[in-house]
Amino acid sequence: MRSHKCGELNTQHLGQTVALCGWVHRRRDHGGVIFIDLRDRAGLVQVVFDPDAADSFAIAESVRSEYVLRIEGVVRDRPDGTQNANMSTGQIEVLGKHIEVLNESETPPFPLESDIEVNEETRLRYRYIDLRRTVMQQKMKVRRDVTRNMRQFLDDNEFFEIETPYLTKATPEGARDYIVPSRTHQNSFFALPQSPQLYKQLLMIAGMDRYYQVVRCFRDEDLRADRQPEFTQLDIETSFLNEQAIMDIMEKMIRRLFIDIINIDLGEPFPVLTYAEAMRRYGSDRPDLRIPLELVDIAEEMRDVDFKVFSGPANDPQGRVVALRLPAGGDLSRSTIDELTKFVGIYGAKGLAYIKVNSLSTGIDGLQSPIVKFASADVWNKVMTKVGAEEGDLIFFGADKAGIVNEAMGALRVKLGLDRNLLTGLWKPLWVIDFPMFAWDEKAQRFSAIHHPFTAPSCSKEELVNDPGNALSRAYDLVLNGTEVGGGSIRINRTDMQQTVFDILGIGHEEAREKFGFLLDALRYGAPPHGGIAFGLDRLVMLMTGASSIRDVIAFPKTQSAACPLFNAPAPVSEEQLKELGIRLRKPAGKDEKPE
Ligand code: AMO
Ligand code: AMP
Repeated sequence: MRSHKCGELNTQHLGQTVALCGWVHRRRDHGGVIFIDLRDRAGLVQVVFDPDAADSFAIAESVRSEYVLRIEGVVRDRPDGTQNANMSTGQIEVLGKHIEVLNESETPPFPLESDIEVNEETRLRYRYIDLRRTVMQQKMKVRRDVTRNMRQFLDDNEFFEIETPYLTKATPEGARDYIVPSRTHQNSFFALPQSPQLYKQLLMIAGMDRYYQVVRCFRDEDLRADRQPEFTQLDIETSFLNEQAIMDIMEKMIRRLFIDIINIDLGEPFPVLTYAEAMRRYGSDRPDLRIPLELVDIAEEMRDVDFKVFSGPANDPQGRVVALRLPAGGDLSRSTIDELTKFVGIYGAKGLAYIKVNSLSTGIDGLQSPIVKFASADVWNKVMTKVGAEEGDLIFFGADKAGIVNEAMGALRVKLGLDRNLLTGLWKPLWVIDFPMFAWDEKAQRFSAIHHPFTAPSCSKEELVNDPGNALSRAYDLVLNGTEVGGGSIRINRTDMQQTVFDILGIGHEEAREKFGFLLDALRYGAPPHGGIAFGLDRLVMLMTGASSIRDVIAFPKTQSAACPLFNAPAPVSEEQLKELGIRLRKPAGKDEKPE
């Protein structure tokens, strides 16, 4: 139907007769001449109809936004002064000779200009129109380019792409499962995989050596801008490589990807931080290193002060007291500080103490804050030296259980860095290593796995049993600009070690057999040393396209409440279907329970 794409025409095509197909992006009447911007995936081109060709002109006059057209015409130079440098086809236009309406369109629910703000619910309900917008088409293209580039790298490095089942059993990655009832095994359910973790380990035991898969993962968890209930991983597993070798090869892949797709050199090698150092300096295991601010521990200085809010946590082994220096922050208004206090409150902080550094030469008199009176000049002097205070700075303080201080002050650090434009660069990748094996869950009174229960510890079995709380794992995360884009580990490849980890997690022998018996068996049949990683493909593409949410780089994402407004999913199913599955609902579909 067409000889060229709209967006690919340029001065090389001058004088040629072309046939184009596309959508009417915009139609303008200009004193007897009609301009149509015709759009296809390649871009826009301006087509001109003049009244000389009366039939075509009449049709051109009748078309509306989003009509689908086939046009024949001749490429010509735009008259001087009418060129458009912002358009790739801005030097030329097509003089329309023939026009055919392939289909009409109702008025679209929103205009397709890229700079118009449209409510997301509407965009998702009419996603097929939203995706016609140039910005969305570009994002889909980057996504295609990203997967193609990584596939190519992995193919060149002897990885096999192997598919693994979606109808499977629960794989613990820390979220709730999506479950699927079975008709043939009533009262039994499949779980959609939270990741192909166990399958990829079985593939290593099966001698596949190197595996990858661009794979959908399903997790029923609280959604955020960088979390979807179904999302895509680039999932990878290797045999006979240690963590350093895996990180090296993955770093190569990511560096090449950024150079090839967005012409960004991420630098070599990526910095490596231990989990402990990341928490200490940034209060986060996925620090945004573009922001130069750091937390400074001052518990030592605060042990004997008269302010319980500080001395309490300073003397508590689970507590933490930190200072965060905001250079030249003295200009922050009272109301801004009040807002920041509210902000840290979201993370459980009970307050946000601060000191304005008016002058350093006048000792304690130069420090402005209601908390100055609680400690001696000597103490404040030490604190100012430790944080590297300068005149005009604002120093914030956080004191509480370490978890709360890390979350609240870590988030404050990021907020201040972004709000006050303190970024020191555009792209800051890093590896985080030496994660703890377990975190103590106060509520459940037991350990939970920081990565997943198949991650190998960096100590012996005996050391692990003796002090699980302090054991480190052989896990590594790749962090970019404060987003965790990938995570992996060396796996346990021996049954006794796997059973020990299950024991520490409170998964008894019987439960372990029932849930993971197949893995414990497989580990007995010559499981090689193996390890891998999974990248969040949506998150990578989000960062590379500058999108603010992964929803913008997924063709058909779910809303914040995990629903699809386009298909209206999830939806009730028929009584017959339920019967076939042996399912009776606790309350009939559509009827909400009465409030108590
Ligand atoms: P993990 O759970 O860290 O590891 O997931 C790997 C990467 O997947 C991305 N990701 C998500 N992206 C969007 N929405 C979500 N809900 C979501 N959850 C995770 C993140 C994350 O870094 N099996 C292990 C990997 C391994 O050990 O090899 C796993 O799934 O970018
Ligand atoms: P107060 O004596 O309770 O008025 O607190 C004095 C200052 O300490 C105020 O600026 C509070 O916001 C701040 N503050 C209170 N609790 C904490 C905390 N846990 N960490 C940091 N600052 C706090």
